[in-house]
Amino acid sequence: MIYVDIKKRILELTKQINQANYEYHTLDQPKISDQSYDQLLKELIELEELNPEYRYEDSPTQKIGGVILSSFTKVKHQIPMMSLSNVFDENELRSFDERIKKVVSSFSYITELKIDGLAVSLLYENGLFVRAATRGNGSIGEDVTHNVKTIKSLPLKLNEPVDIEVRGEIFMPHKSFKMLNEERLNEGEALFANPRNAAAGTIRQLDSNVVSKRNLDLFVYTIVNQMDYADTQEKALQYLSHLGFKVNPNYQKVFGIESLIETIHQYDIIRKRLPYDTDGVVIKVNEFSLYENIGYTAKFPKWATAYKFQAERVETILKDITFQVGRTGVITPVAELEPVLISGSMVARATLHNEDYIKHKDIRIQDTVLVHKAGEIIPEVIEVVLSKRTDQKPFVMIEKCPICQGEVVRKEGEADHYCINPDCPGKSMYGLIHFSSRQAMDIDTLGEKVVETLHDLGYLNKISDIYHLKEYKDALKDLPGFGDKKIYTLLKAIEESKKQGFDRLIFGLGIKHVGSKVAKTLTKFYASMDALRSAKLEDLQSIPEIGPMIAQSVVNYFQNETNLTQIEELQTLGLNMAIEKIETIESPFTGKIIVLTGKLGLYSRDEATEMLEKLGAKVTGSVSSKTDLVIYGEEAGSKLVKAKELNVEIMDEKTFKEIVDGLH
Ligand code: IVH
Repeated sequence: MIYVDIKKRILELTKQINQANYEYHTLDQPKISDQSYDQLLKELIELEELNPEYRYEDSPTQKIGGVILSSFTKVKHQIPMMSLSNVFDENELRSFDERIKKVVSSFSYITELKIDGLAVSLLYENGLFVRAATRGNGSIGEDVTHNVKTIKSLPLKLNEPVDIEVRGEIFMPHKSFKMLNEERLNEGEALFANPRNAAAGTIRQLDSNVVSKRNLDLFVYTIVNQMDYADTQEKALQYLSHLGFKVNPNYQKVFGIESLIETIHQYDIIRKRLPYDTDGVVIKVNEFSLYENIGYTAKFPKWATAYKFQAERVETILKDITFQVGRTGVITPVAELEPVLISGSMVARATLHNEDYIKHKDIRIQDTVLVHKAGEIIPEVIEVVLSKRTDQKPFVMIEKCPICQGEVVRKEGEADHYCINPDCPGKSMYGLIHFSSRQAMDIDTLGEKVVETLHDLGYLNKISDIYHLKEYKDALKDLPGFGDKKIYTLLKAIEESKKQGFDRLIFGLGIKHVGSKVAKTLTKFYASMDALRSAKLEDLQSIPEIGPMIAQSVVNYFQNETNLTQIEELQTLGLNMAIEKIETIESPFTGKIIVLTGKLGLYSRDEATEMLEKLGAKVTGSVSSKTDLVIYGEEAGSKLVKAKELNVEIMDEKTFKEIVDGLH
């Protein structure tokens, strides 16, 4: 291919993918299939890698992440990011309207949903996105450009080449929030309390790869120096849409206080069906020319206010505080409530998060409390109705595990308490459920309920007990609901699970922070349990996808005697303790870490990878000082350059083929 063509193709792909992003994430009207999208993106990534000089400033490949900062830079807002006054009911809203009518007579309002996220200011120069900053204290925020770039609906290039600063709200949609918390539960990490906290925690990540996976979104609602672009908020919103921003479509123009009140009631209905959190309606005078006259206080404009929705909060009695023991030993206090109906469902239990949360809110057993659903999802105790307190005693955190009576400790720098007894049956029950779960050993007949029953009856305490169940076949028959057929399929599935892959077993062991993806990565570098057991901290850390926290957790796991005994038992029982033995052929590549780059013409990437693995090599994606060899094809780019810089051995594809052919 000649260079001109490559450049043209890169431009074509950039435009096509940006358009597809816009249709999918901003308009919510996808026109091409996910598969075609992935294909186009893959092609662009490859072409840009080989021809970095042709990468466009608005290239969609930037949305994938890839930037890791060591700290955040401060940004001074030229025009401060103000906040809004609040009104909580109809009367306060009427007073707001009266105050405005004292100053101006003829005007309209624009109502917008108040998105519950965090404010961000976005700077564009010549139509190109250059910087994003958080609100901070209103005058000074933090530069979060690297993270905001990963938001799919953010236009990297506007439809006009304007110099403009706009502001909006970054939020986490319910779907992303649910997925994130499920994943955290899976990995034994503390959960985010609500989508707003999750969004705020995400935008403060130094590693934009993490952000890119969490699917944040963004609505834009204000232009800084708005009068240069429009004369009303309505036109400003239309102009923002025209530029390519995602503008919340639920805005309305209203005249007069009565229509305003009616409109707000409508919002309170529609907001419950939205896939993201809103906490009110922002009401703005529509005509910019009136703003100076109406004026400002030190903190907020007098021409706007936020009507805050009454989140559905319900009073009930906190009957007791119990404690749940998670798979990693984390102990979560739970409020046992007099059941109440909240946002359409009965709630009898609510999270109390941790000791600090309870102490900070001074929540006590037998208190009357207010409960709501955080992010319309997780029931949470918000506060105590102190006027109803009588002689309740202050809460004291438990010192012994509620299940095994073992020691409970609070780790330094963490808010959570942990049961440190590795044999705790509480942990073990969740551990057993996790072990047999679909992503782990996939023993589908050994679901949560069955594990619970067999655990309560004492048949299952530790993982290896699963494989001893067959010895109790007759006793099982006496259990209610356990017929011959059920027992047969259960025992058969258990026996078959012994053949599951080594990576599933590692994931199933429930090592803290080792999710199924990490487990797979580990097996690439440690082909057997013996190898993994003796892995050194530094070696683990040098694997690209393994951070220090995961590495430490793996090392800790294998330092624990109980864990080692368990693994030995599983080995004796015949579980898969190594990756499928690929018959490796001794070769010059055996034991080497190899990177493939450029266009291979003699083999496909997959063929070359498979072949190298058969020859005992590990194939990885990025070049580092750990790399032993880089095999390159045509038009190889940055990876080859890096290999030369690092003095890593390089080999062209032809030589590689000659060596391979020589082996047969
Ligand atoms: S306008 C002068 N419009 O609410 C203030 N804010 O309490 C301009 N927010 O900091 C803000 N949705 O983070 C505006 N449609 C919307 C909004 C909105 C959410 C947030 C924003 C702001 C806070 C004000």
